[in-house]
Parts: sequence; structure tokens; C-alpha cells
Amino acid sequence: MCPPNKKEKSPKKVSHASFAALLEENRIFKPTPAFRAQAHIKSEEIYRQANKDPLKFWETQAKALAWFKTWKKTLIWKPPFAQWFVGGKLNASYNCLDRHIVGSNRNKAALIWEGEPGDSRTLTYFDLYREVNQLANAMKSLRIKKGDRVAIYLPLIPEAVICMLACARIGAVHTVVFGGFSADALKDRINDASAQLLITADGGYRRGTVVALKAAVDDAIKQCPTIKNVIVVKRTGKDMAMQPGRDLWYHELMAKAAAFCEPEKMDAEDLLFILYTSGTTGKPKGIIHTTGGYMTGVTFTTKYVFDLKPEDIFWCTADVGWVTGHSYITYGPLANAATVVIYEGTPDWPKRDRFWKIIEKYGVTIFYTAPTAIRTFMKWGTQWPDQCDLTSLRLLGSVGEPINPEAWIWYYHTIGRDRCPIVDTWWQTETGSILISPLPGVSALKPGSATKPLPGIEAKVVNEEGREITVGGGYLVLTRPWPSMLRGIYGDPERFQKTYFAKWGGQIYFTGDGAKKDKDGYFWLLGRVDDIMLVAGHNISTMEVESSLVDHPAVAEAAVVGIADEIKGQAIGAFVTLKEGQKPDKTVEEVLKDHVVHKIGPIARPQKIIFTHDLPKTRSGKIMRRLLRDVAEGRALGDVTTLADASVVEALKEKYGEEE
Ligand code: WT7
Repeated sequence: MCPPNKKEKSPKKVSHASFAALLEENRIFKPTPAFRAQAHIKSEEIYRQANKDPLKFWETQAKALAWFKTWKKTLIWKPPFAQWFVGGKLNASYNCLDRHIVGSNRNKAALIWEGEPGDSRTLTYFDLYREVNQLANAMKSLRIKKGDRVAIYLPLIPEAVICMLACARIGAVHTVVFGGFSADALKDRINDASAQLLITADGGYRRGTVVALKAAVDDAIKQCPTIKNVIVVKRTGKDMAMQPGRDLWYHELMAKAAAFCEPEKMDAEDLLFILYTSGTTGKPKGIIHTTGGYMTGVTFTTKYVFDLKPEDIFWCTADVGWVTGHSYITYGPLANAATVVIYEGTPDWPKRDRFWKIIEKYGVTIFYTAPTAIRTFMKWGTQWPDQCDLTSLRLLGSVGEPINPEAWIWYYHTIGRDRCPIVDTWWQTETGSILISPLPGVSALKPGSATKPLPGIEAKVVNEEGREITVGGGYLVLTRPWPSMLRGIYGDPERFQKTYFAKWGGQIYFTGDGAKKDKDGYFWLLGRVDDIMLVAGHNISTMEVESSLVDHPAVAEAAVVGIADEIKGQAIGAFVTLKEGQKPDKTVEEVLKDHVVHKIGPIARPQKIIFTHDLPKTRSGKIMRRLLRDVAEGRALGDVTTLADASVVEALKEKYGEEE
């Protein structure tokens, strides 16, 4: 890598020296001898091997896949553009299906699906193979071919996975749009991708009611000139309009489709999918991933991060609308011939024990969810998991945000019953697969830290000038290309370069996250650098203050924002949800402020605490701090289209006004 370009300065300065001390977390959890004994990876040797020769390491991982033709060159790196396994040919659906149905996995459960109303379906590898082949043929009959874009807008039903794999089979590029998104958001994504086909359903179930997906589709499509056909899956049987000539029933197409469809021989660098990520500002970016490198990254990480074994029942609670659902519901687990659980609905339907009931019912062994869900479960109380048999679990995972030590310990104790290692996995839509995470048979865990970069990955914390910080806080960067990295932003190479590679000389990937490295080389993620506050000359991450608030027994969840302040630059505002049964009042407010001072220092004392029943979150559970800043600073609200529940901010605005 070239030395960073010192002239390049970003407007936002994060100085490493003044980072507030991260909550001192000195509990260490080593792998138990029993876990280590059975783990795929038992020694740190793999890190040394990968470091010695990263390309050779990735070649070994790529060989876990079936290739129609081996690659000629492992990597061509012309920053910011990488090509991996150049000249290699493969097919993602072949890797997830065909190679499993010739042996003992043929009749193994591939997907165990639970609908929200309590209905359930199990598809074996052979079942899934047959459905994918038929749908691939049905799409071909609608003249969809290699390179065409297909939008998928479905509830979490088996057809969502079938559609992704059917696209992959014929080389069509899928773009999955989360079923909770509005007609407007759907329209923007379809148009940006110029999709020709849309696959949707007559509806889906969420918290007991039917979500009218098709109505949103009809609304969106009016302004989507590229869409020629809409395939509709019958999920609810509720009445809705079908437009003759354009709309086709999934089951009718399938009934006519031939049983086998030859998998397209895709180049390693052919597009596999586009996935839109909203980021915190601006128009959504269509992140593009290609076939060979992406499949290598997800196949490797699924097996080793989750220590996946043939007998595991793997449940990642994400929706296929997020990258987590692409990498750890569909491609990673199925490439490894795993049994995957998917659930259509919400965790509180019909009661707050639904997740634990599902674990009990199917004997889930690996459970992968998000900190926001874990904090919600904490708020609901232990009586729900305590009534269920969770003894099948052997490994837990966390993804999406920093997990505060308090939530980590709760998860470890209440769900894992002090037996299961937790893998806190850091990655992004852009990275395609997990990059910073423990290897559960090897790593000593520190609650709240994603530990260290995986073998083959080089991550560093750097200062404004791009110089490495070995102990302390700064920007998280990736200094070596990796196979599953994004290949660009769809239709916008300039934005790709500017967003990720411009800050330090063009070769270093900037994650947008702040992080701190401790003396043992562990990484502590601090959230997006946009969420780092500058209070009286000190950098304080919103996540640290949130973590200290949640550390107090009365608090269920907290969101912290910097509020413009004439004297301090920024003052700290906190939005706090208390645990059930706790009453918000002035005393609690003072107690919490003191608690933060005690945990971090007087500099981090919140100026104001607003109590709220709920926080504004995106559909994927990330707190929208931008909106809270708008509320706190009395501005009109910015873009709210990705908000899960719009009433939450309205209520907050009213409340904030009252308290001014
Ligand atoms: C951002 C990426 C990765 C799939 C789901 C989110 C944050 C993600 C962690 C973690 C701390 C995390 C980062 C990252 N993040 N995982 N384990 N610890 N922060 O994908 O929507 O692209 O978001 O999520 O800020 O940059 P995404």
C-alpha cells in the first residue's frame, strides 16, 4: 500500500488522543476446553499462515467452492477496483444446491420456515433445488437472461431464498428490497437498477396483520418504466388486483416450468447482486457484489466464525432485505449445506417468547441476532426465555452495532446459560462478509469487543493523517483488498472512489467507523464517525455514553446525540427508554447523569435526558441519530423513508418541545 496522502483532510476531525476512555471491561471469557476440543479451528496458527501469504490463504478458501473452471490469477488490484479469481467460472446456485443433492445432503433440511401465524414448511436440499430450477426456467420464459436485474420484494418466506438462487442460477442480478420499505423506496431502487422483473407476494404477516405488499407494488410500478412483469407469490390468499398481461401467479408459472435449468457459467467477477444501503445521508447506494470473491468470503466465514457443523441448526434472525440475510441466511449457510431456520414475523407475536419458542421447537444450535433485539429482550425481562428450553444452543452471534458489555453479559448468561461463546461480528454491506470477529475455538472474548480481524484481513486504526494508532482511538480502515469486498456503487464509480477510497491516498478503504484498539490488539467499535461528538475539545463517541447509560439497571435502551452548544461546541443529549416498571422523573435523570460521570468522566455528563417509550429506528434496527439531532436542535425532520415507525419521532418532537 502507498503511504497515505497527507494533504487530504476531511472536514470532520477526530483526534485520537482525546477519545474518552471506553468503559473498562476487563472480564475475559476463554473458550471452554470442551468447545475448543470440537472446534474447526483450535489454534492461532491460521492467523500466521494467512498473514504470511494472504493470497494463498484466500486461494485455499476459494477451493472450498465448486468451480467449472479454475481462475488464472488470484487478484488484480487497481485501487479502488479489485478483481478476484480472475478467469474462474462458477455458479452460486450450483454451489448452494447441485453439489449437495448428489450425496447424503440430498434429503437434509435446507430451510425450516416458520410463518408468523404458526404455519411451517421444511424444504430439503432436493426440494429447494427443484423449486429453484423451476423458477429459473419460469424467469427465462419471461425473457430474463444473464445480466438483467430482478427486484425481489417479499416477506420472509422460502420463496425469498428461492428467488435469489433462481436469479443466481441464470445469471440475473437480484436486488432484494426489504418488504417493510414503502412504495417510494421500492420505486427508487427499481429505477436505479433498471429492473425488468419484480417478484412480490399478495402480502405477508407482521404482528398479526397482513402487510399489503402488492398494493405498494402497484403504487410503485406506475413510475417504473423498466418493469415488464410482476410475479406474485400467494402467501395470504387475501384479495388484491392482478393486472392482466403484467402480473403472473408464481404457482401457475411453476406448474408449467421444466424441472431442470442448466446453471449459467458465471465469471468470478460477474455481478451476483445489488443491494441498496441507505447510509445516514444521501440517496441510497447500490452496493455491488460479484460471484467468486463474495461466495469465497461468505462460505469461509459461515463455516469458521460460527464453527458450523453438519448437524447444526442455524438461525440468523435478519431479513433477506439486508446483507446479513444475503450472506448468512442464503449464500454462506447453503454453500456449506447447513440447515437454516427462517421466521416471517416479529419476536413479540403472539407473545414475547416467540424467538425462544422457535429455538426450542427446532432445536436451534447457532443463534445470530442484533444488539437492538438483545436490548429489547432485556427490557421485556428474563421470564420469557426462562420458560423455554434453550439447551440446544451452543453458539451465539451479534451483528449490526456495537454490543454494549451489559447486553453482552445478559445475552451470555440469560440466553447462552453461561455455556455458549458469543461471536460479535463486525462487517458492512460493503464488506460482504464478516471481517472482524472472534474465532470461537481460539479467541478469548472481551464483552463489547469484536476482538480481532479474521485471518487474511488487515484492519487498522489510524489518525487523521492516516498514521496507524497501535493503542488508542481513531478511524477504522482496511488496508488490504479482500475477496468479498464491494466492487463498486451501481452506476456511480466516482461516488464509490470518493466514499471509500479518497481519504488517504486512494488505496486504503475507509469504513466510516471509529474504533479503538487496546493494549492486547483488540478492536472496540465506536460507531459511525458521524456519531462522534466533540464536547469541549474532547471526542466522545455516542456509543460510549449510550453504553454507560444502558449499564445502569433502570435503563433498557439509550440514544445519544451531540447538540450544538455555543460554549462547548457540542453538548450531550440523551434519549432514554427505561426498563418496564421504572418511572421516569427528575431523580432518575440525576442518577443517570451521575452514573455516566462515574463511568466515563465529567466531560461526558449529559446536559439533558429525555425519557421515551421508543427510539426512532431503521427497519434493520439501527437508531437514526440524525433524526434525534433534528429533534434536539429543533429542525424540520430530514428523510424519514427508512424509519420503521414514524410516530416515534413525532411523539418525541412533542415531548421535546414540552421540556424545553
Ligand atoms: C455498519 C454496517 C453487517 C451487517 C449488518 C449491518 C455497524 C455492524 C457491528 C459490530 C459494531 C457494527 C458498523 C458498520 N456494525 N456490525 N459487530 N460492532 N458495529 O450492515 O447496514 O451495512 O451497517 O454497522 O457501524 O459500519 P450495514
